[in-house]
Amino acid sequence: MRAAVVKGVGASLPQRVVTNDELAGYLDTSDEWIRSRTGIGTRRWVDAGVSTADLATQAGALALRSAGIDRVDAVVVATTTPDRLCPATAPEVATRLGMTGISAHDVNAVCTGFLYGLASAVGLIAAGNADTVLMIGAETFSTILDPKDRGTAVIFADGAGALVLRAGEAHEPGAIGPLVLGSDGSLADLIQIPAGGSRQRSSGVSAPPEDYFFKMRGREVYRHAVERMSASALEALSRAGLTMSDVDKFVPHQANQRISVAVGMRLGISAEQTVSNVERVGNTAAASIGLLLAEATAEGSLRAGQRLLLTAFGGGLTWGATTMVWPQVTAHISSPPRPGVEALAS
Ligand code: UT7
Repeated sequence: MRAAVVKGVGASLPQRVVTNDELAGYLDTSDEWIRSRTGIGTRRWVDAGVSTADLATQAGALALRSAGIDRVDAVVVATTTPDRLCPATAPEVATRLGMTGISAHDVNAVCTGFLYGLASAVGLIAAGNADTVLMIGAETFSTILDPKDRGTAVIFADGAGALVLRAGEAHEPGAIGPLVLGSDGSLADLIQIPAGGSRQRSSGVSAPPEDYFFKMRGREVYRHAVERMSASALEALSRAGLTMSDVDKFVPHQANQRISVAVGMRLGISAEQTVSNVERVGNTAAASIGLLLAEATAEGSLRAGQRLLLTAFGGGLTWGATTMVWPQVTAHISSPPRPGVEALAS
């Protein structure tokens, strides 16, 4: 079977930095609470008028530049925050990147979106329906946050991360390993936007304004996240014929630093092996793993030849994990998160 192999990586962050102190200016919270409970110090939110497609297009352009190509056969966008409920965001992104006519679709698995999007890209390549795929995780979560809800407003954030994948062999560096994916719809209520979809519309009952915002039952989600991320990571290793001692770097979805640490402890992974950017960018949902791969590569904490273990968890509920050997690749990021990281505006 043809493997999907990473050929390029790019990311885009909005310019606007939102500090914990700014949030504490209008919410009953504090920098101390946010840092100690989540590990988050700052996050990026879009300025008025900037959409998910804008971030996705920029991250996609930079991933194509990283791959040294200007066309792919298909675009997949993983997002919880599409520009519109209908149509999907991917066709617009493909067209803005100069690729009108190609396959383009969205995937929604909330914070597991990057891994479900990867599965879609892997499937397109394995079946021979595409030789190259641009997979973008992109979010403008700030647009669905309830500004009065301190349980979510301090956590979620905006950004985009993208990979270019090409057809290749499973043994090559950059080949995506077996993907373990799962879901449990009986717990859909733990993470949801209650109104605006067909269930509320067909009820004929108008919803209160707060029901159009994102809601999360954080404490319950936390427990499921630790269990599912740990279990799926172990299963992905086993399906790849590997053990924990083969893993060089752990790349968890950046939900909350405490979740990453708790999962790492269960798996026997050290803090030094765990890559993280949640302190600077918050939880960017479907964009999180792509953004982390790009930043960690640009900073040198991910290097060619290292074996990575990736895992994520999100609304649905959904979860997933995979492994790969990181290839020789240069990451391009639109908005440098700290001095020293190469800036390449698209
Ligand atoms: O991305 C994938 C899906 N999402 C996640 O994986 C996130 C999972 N959940 C979490 O990360 C954590 O549950 C949170 C960060 C959301 C909350 O942390 P926690 O330690 O689980 O806090 P909690 O929800 O148990 O709340 C503890 C207290 C509560 O007050 P009482 O009831 O003990 O008086 C909350 O009302 O902290 C209060 N609280 C806050 N206080 C100050 C909740 N949010 C805040 C806040 N500032 N921002």
